[in-house]
Amino acid sequence: MNAISSDSRYADRARLAGLWESELDVFRAQRPRSSDEWERAIRHMPDGVPMLWMAKWPGPWPVYVSRASGAHFECIDGIDHVDLCLGDTGAMCGHAPAASVAAISQQLARGSTFMLPTRDAASAAELLAARFGMPVWQFTLSATDANRSLIRFARQVTGRPKILVHDFSYHGTVDEAYATLDKNGDVVSRRGNIGAPVALDHTTAVVQFNDLALLEFALSAGDIAAVLMEPALTNIGIVLPDPGYHEAVRELCTRYGTLLIIDETHTLSAGPGGMTDVLGLEPDAIVLGKSIGGGIPAGAYGMTREFALAVRESLDLEDIDVGGVGGTLAGNAVSLAGIRATLSGVLTPAAFESMIDRCTEWTAGVHTAIDEFSVPWQVTQLGARAEYSFRPTPPRDGAEAAAADDFELQQYLHLHALNRGILVTPFHNMALMSPATTASDVERHTLAFREAVVSLFG
Ligand SMILES: Cc1ncc(COP(=O)(O)O)c(C=O)c1O
Repeated sequence: MNAISSDSRYADRARLAGLWESELDVFRAQRPRSSDEWERAIRHMPDGVPMLWMAKWPGPWPVYVSRASGAHFECIDGIDHVDLCLGDTGAMCGHAPAASVAAISQQLARGSTFMLPTRDAASAAELLAARFGMPVWQFTLSATDANRSLIRFARQVTGRPKILVHDFSYHGTVDEAYATLDKNGDVVSRRGNIGAPVALDHTTAVVQFNDLALLEFALSAGDIAAVLMEPALTNIGIVLPDPGYHEAVRELCTRYGTLLIIDETHTLSAGPGGMTDVLGLEPDAIVLGKSIGGGIPAGAYGMTREFALAVRESLDLEDIDVGGVGGTLAGNAVSLAGIRATLSGVLTPAAFESMIDRCTEWTAGVHTAIDEFSVPWQVTQLGARAEYSFRPTPPRDGAEAAAADDFELQQYLHLHALNRGILVTPFHNMALMSPATTASDVERHTLAFREAVVSLFG
């Protein structure tokens, strides 16, 4: 969890190692109760965490949360944190937003799971249809499951075996999507992929983001059921689309009979209707998840009428419960109450305006420090989300973005921030604004980030 060992682009590794050790000392001194809790937790959970990826946070042991509200949380050591991670978008609505909590609690008290719809189901579908211009909706417990369902439907109605994803994209724990290109341009399993059921080139084609020639070449084989893509990559830093890219992707998908699925799970940060609304995209399906439930598990996927009809006509009523698209608690009453309340009362168009303003301030703060010390890093904003990376210019595709990765440097910057009461998203350098994030929350990061830059480059 804490070792600093391998080589990467920040040249002064000895200085980095020394800084890291000092920050570890600060962390240990600040968080004795977390240490005790970790001693307890590690007896019955690997690394003392309920999901193993939580072990990837920097520090000798995890931070355990006691309570959260809006853009802040307090840990069991009583330290207040500005939360710029926001559950990696799960809490983009802010923690415990009042309107969502009220609706969720009321529904919980009336019963949560019936395998029958409540009136909130149609309300949630109406709200999503109005925002995304997509008429037909279904509900899941996660964005991963929404992606899995759509992939199955796409293969079912097209009769084609493969999907296409972008290099270094992430669409959740979806077998088909965890693919990358090796140095010969062949599709292989991504580093760290656990227990892949089949070789990834059987199920998946991979191309670089923003590369239309490669996309056309892959689609022309005629075996791709669907392109599954984020409208901007957000899981390997932020990679924005070139002007005209999306129009060309749409045109190519139509020409080669491939369905286009836009995964807006993270890019919802661009505005109330995500990048689909901002850029006027015309996909065949849209995926949402994470924050739309107000903090409880909820996912959704929207389809055009044509796609939805093709799916429906391909299924016999008798087989519908065992067809591989399911989830007993999917579409449960509490998730739908959460979606209805969060979309209508929390993640509103007015809320997005303030979230995007705060993010513009955050981006300017990072920019100022980078410029002041001539640091060869860049920062990219996508609505209420922004991210810096260890390269001088914005990446054009996932491979370029991945090449700038520096795990040790990133761990140091995150631990430095954490020790100053700021939580940055793990696994990359992303900050996200909620409706409750204030200018002074942002300023706290601006000051700490400058201090970190001085420690490395000053
Ligand atoms: C673009 C995108 N799609 C889907 C997912 C999966 O979300 P979940 O893990 O909530 O299922 C993620 C998770 O980070 C994501 O970034």
